[in-house]
Amino acid sequence: MPRFNDMPRIAPSDITPQGVWLNRRHLIAGAAALGGAGLIGGSAQAAQVIEPLKAATGFPAPSDPPSDKKLATTYNNYYEFGTSKSAPAMNAHRLTVRPWSVEISGEVSKPRTIGIEELLAFPLEERIYRFRCVEAWSMVVPWIGFEFNKLAALVEPTSRAKFVRFTTAERPSEMPGLGSPVLDWPYTEALRIDEAMHPLTLVTLGMYGETLPNQNGAPVRLVVPWKYGYKSAKSIVKIEFVEKQPVSSWTKAASHEYGFYSNVNPNVDHPRWSQKRERLLPALFASRETEMFNGYGAQVASLYAGMDLKVNH
Ligand code: MTE
Repeated sequence: MPRFNDMPRIAPSDITPQGVWLNRRHLIAGAAALGGAGLIGGSAQAAQVIEPLKAATGFPAPSDPPSDKKLATTYNNYYEFGTSKSAPAMNAHRLTVRPWSVEISGEVSKPRTIGIEELLAFPLEERIYRFRCVEAWSMVVPWIGFEFNKLAALVEPTSRAKFVRFTTAERPSEMPGLGSPVLDWPYTEALRIDEAMHPLTLVTLGMYGETLPNQNGAPVRLVVPWKYGYKSAKSIVKIEFVEKQPVSSWTKAASHEYGFYSNVNPNVDHPRWSQKRERLLPALFASRETEMFNGYGAQVASLYAGMDLKVNH
């Protein structure tokens, strides 16, 4: 079994040209690697290297280069593994990510359960996105995945599907943080259907040219780049298309602090801190001005035409 460091690698210069999405089709270091003993960012799960293929894009790449991979894999929010930033990288190796499947149900014509191997067989693209946490720090991350709308097409949502609810793994024996009442477990999140179907919304299976480390939400998470990070649910096990707006975990915990929409917005402060500026890690100070919709306004502002974004925060 190959050790991680012996696996074929792809130079960042091959996979992250600015302004370009990259497609990937093949997993190089086969499934056997998943049982391996490589150590990646604190995770005992060996990553599979993902080979990307280039494709043209209409989306902007951030002007800043991708954040340091070590930072992105050791400074995390994943409360099921503890509430400190370092806890997920220390504890998430406990998560068993194979076998894994995602149940897709609700207001759809063709409900089904889809295995992780099938998800990995979708044509994958690399998308370098700005990622902005509600805590006013940000990173630039080269994610790998495919558009959520492609997954939705498989199950054919009905006209009654107005929202999409994401439920994540709840494994008391593997997740030490579940003992804490900080959130109502399992962690759930939701999007309006047009937000979920937007081409920026990514079913994410990898980052930095490899499968996701556990602390970043292995084996499958969502990334919604114009919203605060808590909308990007990790380790998803269930996707439901529903008629009524769901109440997600953070909104249930504190609705005045964590709204349903959670669009990045410099004009709507968190009740306990300003959102006007942000700290692009590893910077110590919030020297950047927060951009409306995290810089994706040209792509997503029309989704909210006529809405009061202070009320619908
Ligand atoms: N998903 C689950 N299941 N549990 C969590 O605690 N934290 C959210 C989001 N998804 C969280 C989650 C928050 S608050 C953020 S900012 C991002 O994951 C962090 O993603 P990252 O660690 O990959 O940067």
